[in-house]
Amino acid sequence: MKVGILGSGDVGKALAGGFIKHGHQVVLGTRDAGKLKDFVAQHKGAEAKSFADAAKFGDVVVLAVKGTAALDVLKAAGAANLANKPVIDATNPIAAAPPTNGVLKFFTNLDRSLMEQLQAAFPDARFVKAYNSVGNARMINPEFKSGKPTMFICGNDDAAKAKVREINDQFGWETADVGKAEAARAIEPLCMLWCILGFTKNEWTHAFKLLHKE
Ligand SMILES: NC(=O)c1ccc[n+]([C@@H]2O[C@H](COP(=O)([O-])OP(=O)(O)OC[C@H]3O[C@@H](n4cnc5c(N)ncnc54)[C@H](OP(=O)(O)O)[C@@H]3O)[C@@H](O)[C@H]2O)c1
Repeated sequence: MKVGILGSGDVGKALAGGFIKHGHQVVLGTRDAGKLKDFVAQHKGAEAKSFADAAKFGDVVVLAVKGTAALDVLKAAGAANLANKPVIDATNPIAAAPPTNGVLKFFTNLDRSLMEQLQAAFPDARFVKAYNSVGNARMINPEFKSGKPTMFICGNDDAAKAKVREINDQFGWETADVGKAEAARAIEPLCMLWCILGFTKNEWTHAFKLLHKE
């Protein structure tokens, strides 16, 4: 699979490393390819280019940029380069204001998630929310004593979600598909919940698991 990763931060690099580990080809997109020089040198099969080049390259695109920059980055990537492709949206709409008692502030509200805004602005892209509510150190084949953690996903396009389910399988996650794009209103705040333990107890190694009766 050819994967275009929009983002040069810890998440972009963690997911790029995961795709390479599982035999996929990766182009990372950034405004400054120089900052990925070491990463590219250490990861055979990775290249660093512009946001547009990365999006164009990918059969699957990953959005892993600062939430406040997500729309601008997608504009730079180009609507035509995103059209009809699964776009894995790992972003969180974290506001600039600091957390209160460990609770992050968001610039969105519970009736309109960031992913819905992105989907409305780029109607031909097939957004799937995923990888937003676990730390980057545990995104790829994490090991937990209590078994596989759950990746909550949502999005409007079933084929795109099936592709993300395949990726989750490779990356060691079980998938809980919780619905259409509106369900991102619930998935994005899982990041707040995940981070509270970090900010208040300095615990950063957990992940969520959905338990079923049967
Ligand atoms: N850190 C985690 O463990 C974690 C876990 C789950 C989800 N997330 C979410 O994943 C996303 C990425 O997080 P991160 O920690 O990897 O790094 P980040 O610092 O949130 O984002 C870095 C990326 O954002 C881009 N960016 C920042 N400001 C920009 C601007 N004004 N215009 C264009 N691009 C801009 C940078 O572009 P350049 O490459 O051009 O500098 C870079 O690629 C965030 O939305 C975060 O909430 C993070």
